[in-house]
Amino acid sequence: MKDPVMVIEEKVEIEMKDPVMAKEEEKVQTQIERERSLEEDNQSYFWIKSEGEQKISTENLVPGNQVYKEKLIIKKGIEYRLWDPFRSKLAASIMNKLENFPFKNKTKVLYLGASTGTTVSHISDIVGPSGLVFAVEHASRVARDFLDRVATHRSNIMPILQDARKPKEYFSVFGKVDVVYVDIAQPDQTQIAIDNCDMFLKKDGFFFLVIKTRSIDVTKAPKRIVEEEIEKLRDKFEILESIDLHPYDKDHAMVIAKYKN
Ligand SMILES: C[S@@+](CC[C@H](N)C(=O)[O-])C[C@H]1O[C@@H](n2cnc3c(N)ncnc32)[C@H](O)[C@@H]1O
Repeated sequence: MKDPVMVIEEKVEIEMKDPVMAKEEEKVQTQIERERSLEEDNQSYFWIKSEGEQKISTENLVPGNQVYKEKLIIKKGIEYRLWDPFRSKLAASIMNKLENFPFKNKTKVLYLGASTGTTVSHISDIVGPSGLVFAVEHASRVARDFLDRVATHRSNIMPILQDARKPKEYFSVFGKVDVVYVDIAQPDQTQIAIDNCDMFLKKDGFFFLVIKTRSIDVTKAPKRIVEEEIEKLRDKFEILESIDLHPYDKDHAMVIAKYKN
């Protein structure tokens, strides 16, 4: 049996802990955990200390190659690319405590609104050589940049120069994907996204929707617009979380859902 005197001594010790010391210890513990996460190679993204701050990064699939002048950092012989939350809404979601992160080694993703490929490039790092990102973009000028700077260097990206309103015309998408990510800033984007999920998202697959509240209706309060868009999803999706992207992106929210179908 346990000595009752010992139990009391332990209790006294806990109660007398200096709160400043406790906070310092907690900080050190967080630091150790993040450093440890760098050591594990099954991580999707990594925290790296740069300029006195912990920053998100991904392991560069194409060492030496920069996409948007992001900083490259070599640690223990591995090259990482810092992932700027002011340039990527997925990174902003992580900074704002995203809980569901289904992107990992071998994940298949359908990404609508690739633009010049900032976010797509980090997803390409994460899913690795055995994963695949089908990246849809309809504007030819940005698509050319995307091809030159990103897609030609990365064999796991399949660029699709098409209108996301016509998913039947993406001839290169085969099979179902694990994640559909939508960032096309169109007033009817939720319906476009649902149509794409119906065609390509597997059951229980994840859905990421970036809502740019001003592009849907400038006259309504942002919170209300997000709620209205979420309502449109409830039939076919289980809503997992909704994240305000402030201060990284004004008037944007990220909704994460699971496809029930
Ligand atoms: C806000 S930007 C995307 C930024 C990008 N997701 C990133 O994080 O790096 C929106 C992009 O969606 C594209 N887009 C808008 N409507 C589209 C449509 N119907 N089909 C395909 N792309 C579309 C635009 O041309 C633009 O490049």
